Amino acid sequence: MINFQLNDDQLAVKETALKFAINEMRPAAAHHDQTAEFPKNIIHKAWELGLINTCIPAEYGGVGFGHVDGTVITECLAYGCLGMNTSIMSNDLALLPIVIAGNHEQKEKFLRPFTEKFQIASFCLTEPANGSDAAGIKTSIKDMGDHFLLNGNKMWITNAGFAEIFVVYCTFDSKQKHKGLCAVIVEHDRDGIEIGKPEKKMGHRCSDTRAMTFKNVKVPKENLLGKLGDGWKIAMKTLDHSRPLIGSSAVGGAQAALDHSLRYAKERIQFDVPIANHQAIQMIIADMTMKVEASRLLVQKAAWLLDNGQKNTQYASMAKAMASDTCMEVATNAVQIFGGYGYSVEYPVEKIMRDAKLIQIYEGTSQIQRIVIAREGLS
Ligand code: CAA
Repeated sequence: MINFQLNDDQLAVKETALKFAINEMRPAAAHHDQTAEFPKNIIHKAWELGLINTCIPAEYGGVGFGHVDGTVITECLAYGCLGMNTSIMSNDLALLPIVIAGNHEQKEKFLRPFTEKFQIASFCLTEPANGSDAAGIKTSIKDMGDHFLLNGNKMWITNAGFAEIFVVYCTFDSKQKHKGLCAVIVEHDRDGIEIGKPEKKMGHRCSDTRAMTFKNVKVPKENLLGKLGDGWKIAMKTLDHSRPLIGSSAVGGAQAALDHSLRYAKERIQFDVPIANHQAIQMIIADMTMKVEASRLLVQKAAWLLDNGQKNTQYASMAKAMASDTCMEVATNAVQIFGGYGYSVEYPVEKIMRDAKLIQIYEGTSQIQRIVIAREGLS
C-alpha cells in the first residue's frame, strides 16, 4: 500500500520544526550569514525542542525518530536557514557511525550524553588531498599494544571548533585502500589535536568549518568502531543514511526560494500587472514547483527504504543528486524572478543561491552521486 500522508506524530513534529525555523532561525539568518558567527544558542534551542540528534535510538535516550521523520524535520530547519541546518545536521552525520557500528558500551558512553546535555560532534573523513576519493585517505592509526596512535590531517570538518567528540576515519595500511580503513571516536580534549581557524566560505557561512591535525594522539582501544578494516563499510553505510537528510535540506532550501518567488511574483508590478500574470514567470514557477515536489518524493523514498530495512544506496544518491541540483536551479531561478533585487543582499534569495552551491559538493558531489547511481544500476 502506498501512503503519501504524514502520520499524526510526523505532522506534530513538522509543525514544531517549521515554527522554530520561521520564528527563530529565519530572523537571525542574515546576521549569522554576514558575521559568520556560529549559531550556538539557536542550535541549543533546537536541542531543547528535540529537533537535533534525530538518529539516536530510544534505547539510548533518543526520541526514536525514523529516517522519514528525520527528513521531515531537516526540510523544515533548512527552510529556516541552510547554514544553521548544516551545523545541526552534522551532529547526526557524526553520531550515525556510532549508531550503525558502535557496541552497547560505546553507545551508552558516547550517544547517551548527547540526549542529556547539549553537545556537538564532528565527522572527520575528508583530507586536504582526498575528498571524492575517500578510500585514499592518509590519516594513520598505529597499534601501540594498549592504545592506538593517530596521525594526520583533515579538511572541511563541520563543527570542528565546537565538537566534544570526533569520529575520525584513518588507515592502518594505506596500500590496502578501502580495506585498511578504520573509524575511531576521539574526545576533543586529547593531547595532540590542533584545530584550524574557521574557513571563509561563499555560503553556509555560520556553519563552523575547519582543518584539523592529529599529532600522536593517543586513542583508547575501546574507541575503535567495529574492528580494524571496518572503517570503509561504516563510512559508506553512514553516507547511505545521511544523504537522504542532505537531500531533504536541499528540498527545504528550494521550497524557501520557491515560496519567496511566489510571494514576490504576486507583489511586483511590471507592465501594469503583477509579474505572476506573465506566462514567462509562470513557466519558471511551474518548473520550480515540479522539481521541488519530485525531489521531496525521492528523498522520502530513500529514507522510507531505510525505515523498512531495505538497501537504499542508489536511492540515497538519487535523492541527494536530484535535490541538490534542484535546489541550485530553483534558487538561481528565484534570483531571476526577483531581478535586480534578487542580486541584493537585502533580499533573501541570493543567500539561498550561495548556500545551495555547497549542497552539490559536500557529502559526495553531484558527479560522485551519479557514479554511485550508475554503478548500482549496472551491477
Ligand atoms: N555500502 C556498503 N558497501 C559499499 C558501499 C555501500 N554504500 N559502497 C561501496 N561499498 C563497497 C563496494 O561494494 C566495494 O566492496 P568490495 O571491496 O567487496 O569490492 C568497496 O566498498 C569499494 O567500493 P568502490 O569500489 O565503489 O570504491 P571507490 O573507491 O571506487 O569509491 C565512492 C566509491 C562512492 C566514489 C566513494 O569514494 C564516495 O562515496 N566518495 C565520496 C566521499 C564523500 O561523500 N565524502 C563526504 C565527506 S562528509 C561531508 O562532506 C560532510 C560535511 O561536510 C557536512
